[in-house]
Amino acid sequence: MPTVRRSVALLGATGSIGSQTLDVLRREPEMFELVALSGGEQLNELADITNEFHVTRVGVISDSHRDALAALVDSSVEIVVGEDGLSELAASADVVVNAVLGFAGLPVTLSALRAGKRLALANKESLIAAAPLVAKVRATPGASMLPVDSEHCAIHQCLASSPGEPGYPDVRRLLLTASGGPFRGWSLDQLRGATKADALNHPTWSMGAKITIDSSTLMNKGLEVLEASAFFGINVDRVEVVVHPQSIVHSMVEYVDGSVLAQLSRPDMRLPIAYCLGMPVRLDHGWGAIDFTKDVELTFEAPDPKSFPALALAYEASRLGGAAPAWLSAANEVAVAAFLADQISWCEIIDVVARVMDEYVADPLDSLQDLVANDATARARAHGILEQ
Ligand SMILES: NC(=O)c1ccc[n+]([C@@H]2O[C@H](COP(=O)([O-])OP(=O)(O)OC[C@H]3O[C@@H](n4cnc5c(N)ncnc54)[C@H](OP(=O)(O)O)[C@@H]3O)[C@@H](O)[C@H]2O)c1
Repeated sequence: MPTVRRSVALLGATGSIGSQTLDVLRREPEMFELVALSGGEQLNELADITNEFHVTRVGVISDSHRDALAALVDSSVEIVVGEDGLSELAASADVVVNAVLGFAGLPVTLSALRAGKRLALANKESLIAAAPLVAKVRATPGASMLPVDSEHCAIHQCLASSPGEPGYPDVRRLLLTASGGPFRGWSLDQLRGATKADALNHPTWSMGAKITIDSSTLMNKGLEVLEASAFFGINVDRVEVVVHPQSIVHSMVEYVDGSVLAQLSRPDMRLPIAYCLGMPVRLDHGWGAIDFTKDVELTFEAPDPKSFPALALAYEASRLGGAAPAWLSAANEVAVAAFLADQISWCEIIDVVARVMDEYVADPLDSLQDLVANDATARARAHGILEQ
């Protein structure tokens, strides 16, 4: 198939998904041109990427970051600042990779879709918090959204055999696989003593700190349930979680005739990233290839709801609807940041989120202003609980 050269904006370039996306781009210089970048605190890394790929437009988070970066890159590089800068960059390329962390990635998701671009979405928090708003801009002519999250990328591939009617009536359920994280099988007593080093020690994936902690609490899987529901337009009651410690089966779709389609590969995020960048072309690098002649063990078990209450909180947030998923995600961001800053214990992360959710009062989500206000309220409640 002839390939078309595509321009790429990589927002959140200095993180884990960012660096793996750069790896894909380095292998395919004829197919992709990196035209825009953004980063947060790691300005030396941002400058290195800018210089290596001769990028002409870069986004930073503040004026002082702009001044510091300007000293490290060519004077011809245009540096844009803040949310407006991110929005501008997200409207400037054929493919936009949203690899920004947390709610800060919202402007990228909304702007890329509003501008009719292909959005390769790693930043699940923006879709979860803003699902009704994203649904509106997703309808923009030319806009498309592809999932970088490996589970959703697997489901996207497994759904290719469905006629794709809205709500997927031919699908009985989506089966999201979970590695179980570093604490699979730990007792409640053991979990009370879990340290930051334990929680950051993921058995199968190497990722940024926030998502690694989310994986340890299973909040990542809870967020992914919400993400799957919003991405594919399927009620959460048809999304189930199965623990699969080997992280080889990335997720499955069960059709109404009982057939189950699964996508298998070794855990390597470059595969779903390349899928989103190259679609409909599959890039020939074999990143996830499995040698079935070597030991390949595939086991499955149910999640443990007592030790990992985050999953139930996510289902409940989806059933409440409105701004509840935004509250859940915002409270979780605050609690995880507090854990990473050694302010609370591992067990307290989900306690804080649960206490914030207890205070949620039904609120529809009709506008961006509603969302921003709800996000701020949930964060304020979480900080209030942390200060007690
Ligand atoms: N890592 C994975 O394997 C993986 C898998 C599936 C989904 N995801 C999702 O992908 C997203 C990124 O995850 P990650 O693991 O790559 O995170 P990460 O390593 O922490 O990287 C996050 C990126 O966002 C930037 N950033 C942080 N705060 C920002 C802010 N307030 N404004 C603008 N930029 C900001 C960071 O800049 P600095 O580093 O320069 O500060 C960095 O470039 C998350 O939504 C995560 O859930 C990740």
